[in-house]
Amino acid sequence: MLLFFISMSISKAQTNYTESEVPFFEVPNPLTTFKGETISTNTAWEKSRRPELHAFFRENVYGRVPENLKIDSYNILEQDHNALNGKAKRTQVELTFTKNNKELSFTILLYLPKHVKNTAVFLGYNFYGNHTITEDESVIISTAWTDNNKEFGIENNTLTAASRGKRTNRWAIDKIIDAGYGLATIYYGEVDPDKNDFSDGIHHLLYGENQNQPKPDEWGSIAAWAWGLSKAMDYFETNPEIEATKVIAFGHSRLGKAALWAGANDQRFAGVISNNSGCGGAAMSKRKYGETLAVINQRFPHWFCTNFKQYNNNEEALVVDQHQLLALIAPRPLYVASAEEDRWADPRGEFLSAKYASSVYELYGKKGIGDMEMPSTNLPIHNTVAYHIRTGKHDVTDYDWEQYIKWANIHLR
Ligand code: GCU
Repeated sequence: MLLFFISMSISKAQTNYTESEVPFFEVPNPLTTFKGETISTNTAWEKSRRPELHAFFRENVYGRVPENLKIDSYNILEQDHNALNGKAKRTQVELTFTKNNKELSFTILLYLPKHVKNTAVFLGYNFYGNHTITEDESVIISTAWTDNNKEFGIENNTLTAASRGKRTNRWAIDKIIDAGYGLATIYYGEVDPDKNDFSDGIHHLLYGENQNQPKPDEWGSIAAWAWGLSKAMDYFETNPEIEATKVIAFGHSRLGKAALWAGANDQRFAGVISNNSGCGGAAMSKRKYGETLAVINQRFPHWFCTNFKQYNNNEEALVVDQHQLLALIAPRPLYVASAEEDRWADPRGEFLSAKYASSVYELYGKKGIGDMEMPSTNLPIHNTVAYHIRTGKHDVTDYDWEQYIKWANIHLR
């Protein structure tokens, strides 16, 4: 216990929240290859620079997926043409994967507006089960492992009706449906439970003989969650009601990290929204402010691949930074959002990352952040690379969704 307190106080004491104390750091140029060649066209970016950056993030940050697993079967568990007071169609569809006599299933909760055909969809994970995002009584409660949460009445790592609707504040379903978009969500714990244990979730389906954890360059949990988003996309391609070329991957915090990696890996995503994704997400790793790599890798050893740990307290050795992850999403629309009180996630580091990714968007004639300074709170920039910092804390609010919808109306329609 004493040790715990000591280590907590050390990591807190080491957290830098003073802008003037951020040391100088190198920003690796997205347009200079590892060999030092200059990239000046989008063709050259796609041919040589993008692949080497993508491979670096895959093998040294998030970890590679060992094998391409296809959906074995999908099963419509439930459907209602008159959901949300008659304005939406609700579908709950379970995707099942099998390999080596093992099985994994996860359920997508999907709301589509009734008055729109070929719907564009926001797809994002939730933290505590599909039933938490709405009061809708018909949403099935997941049986997957979950973290306990007193405030939500979650005990024994089990979800119950006590937590129904507890997260409606983070999901502006009415605004989304009224604007003509669909919303799809998945409980992330069904794809991979968020604990340092690789015996469950998707990982163990793909182990070789005598393997019981991912190899140093193989996927951690963030890559597993990103994989799940791509599998949802595989399903969307079979659903004629969805416009699969207009699906935006969305995520908050650790799930924002997963959405970014999904968008970088899978170019079928039409765009990506990173809400307060912070360290290992949109925020620059080399900038010493808020959460650091050593802290994230210690507290969440299962999130990134083992290779990434060599950069703990050694960010200078990294030949990439997170703006280059964002650049992998180019030329598709990208929204990075911060919150003023969310200093742990380093709002300025998130802004700079979006700004430094913009040179790649410019190769495609798309408008990024350019030479703009960080905007004041609640003054969004809605270019192809979009950014806002809102007042308030680490969260997803109606304000955030209002911005995402406005921006999607400009860049997705
Ligand atoms: C922790 C973690 C962050 C993460 C956040 C979340 O605060 O340090 O990196 O983004 O959890 O997912 O809520």
